[in-house]
Amino acid sequence: MNPVELIIKKRDGNKLTQNELEFFIKSYLSGKIPEYQMSAMLMAIFFSGMEPEEIQTLTEIYINSGKWIKFPKRMNTVDKHSTGGVGDKITIPLAPIVAACGATIPMISGRGLGHTGGTLDKLEAIPCFRTDFSETEFREIITKTGLSIISQSKELVPADRRIYALRDVSGTVESLPLITASIMSKKIAEGAQNLVIDLKVGTGAFIKNMEKAEKLAKLLINTGKCLDQKVSVVFTDMNSPLGNYVGNALEIQESIEYLQGKKLPDIHKITKVLAEEMLILSGIAKTNELAGKMVEDVINNGKALDVFKKFIEAQKGDPKVCDDTSLLPQAKYQIPIIADKTGWVKEINSQNIGFALIDVNAGRKKLDSKLDYSTGAYLIKKIGDKIEKGEEIGKVYCNDKEIGKSVSQKIMSNYFLDDYKIEKTTIILKIIR
Ligand code: URA
Repeated sequence: MNPVELIIKKRDGNKLTQNELEFFIKSYLSGKIPEYQMSAMLMAIFFSGMEPEEIQTLTEIYINSGKWIKFPKRMNTVDKHSTGGVGDKITIPLAPIVAACGATIPMISGRGLGHTGGTLDKLEAIPCFRTDFSETEFREIITKTGLSIISQSKELVPADRRIYALRDVSGTVESLPLITASIMSKKIAEGAQNLVIDLKVGTGAFIKNMEKAEKLAKLLINTGKCLDQKVSVVFTDMNSPLGNYVGNALEIQESIEYLQGKKLPDIHKITKVLAEEMLILSGIAKTNELAGKMVEDVINNGKALDVFKKFIEAQKGDPKVCDDTSLLPQAKYQIPIIADKTGWVKEINSQNIGFALIDVNAGRKKLDSKLDYSTGAYLIKKIGDKIEKGEEIGKVYCNDKEIGKSVSQKIMSNYFLDDYKIEKTTIILKIIR
């Protein structure tokens, strides 16, 4: 087969057969198809889309590019995956909470993608923390702590590992077929029998409106059904950045503070709803009330934080960060973000904020970009909040003052104000089981 012919076939809106897709992905993984042809194919898929059958085939090819892990039903395996947002650190507190309630969380996760941060990058901000474990080690960590969060590897969904990284730097992230294959391959190969998707909708998400979100939800649920995984989808608002911090180490710090009992309303609301859904889907709790109480208990009695410490230790990180967050990487400078106008926040372009933070190396511009874990932003204003001209509405954490100042201005220019009071938005939009 000729790769160019297949790229043209997809570019012109035609369906690719299983053999053609298999040929393309396998040849890319073995180095016979170069990055530029894979990038061209991804862009062709981005513009021409894929039929549901092609998406399922692509997902299976991704899964079968590595091992397919299975766990016994009695382990109540469940996972959560977010479609990506700005400041979305929810996995970090959620996984230990749900594990502390008795479920098993086998999680293959991702790095930063486009303007959004990734769970693996955030966790790797913890000194010495590792995510590159073998299947055997993954199983051992799960047995010890009830959860493990690792990366795709040569052994586990290598196709997603390579293609995910390439999409990040080739402008091909926001494609429903590619998002579906990427998420579902990881989540099925890891062995979770139940999956809760946090489908983020809004300016900080890859999915900007409910119509597209509904389409993606259908693709995710149907792919799960075909591959024997129960999927439930929680649609959540992603217009204001989540929590108060964006950036790798900063989000770990905020997650630790939340597990220590700090009241963070939007983080708590989403974490609790997703945890309840995970506990019900995996059979640990019968009702939302019961699940909700379990969640509150493990936060209040410190069990969730204990699980988080054990998990960090099992993945070779320094658990002392949970008692002293100054052990996390620290940026040299904090540049204030000063409001240049007065009004109520009507809109925040969170995607642009995510992209602005790549300037301080909180995310990647190229495949081999090195992250600066210490950088990011503190942002206190949400949609509906009042801002006064001259008020400090946040800070940029950086290691280069001039770049930090320019990022501070970029961030301010992505807050849009109105002269009258705006209603606050609800964060949980809809749940489909
Ligand atoms: N999360 C993933 O794992 N993949 C995507 O493509 C988007 C979000």
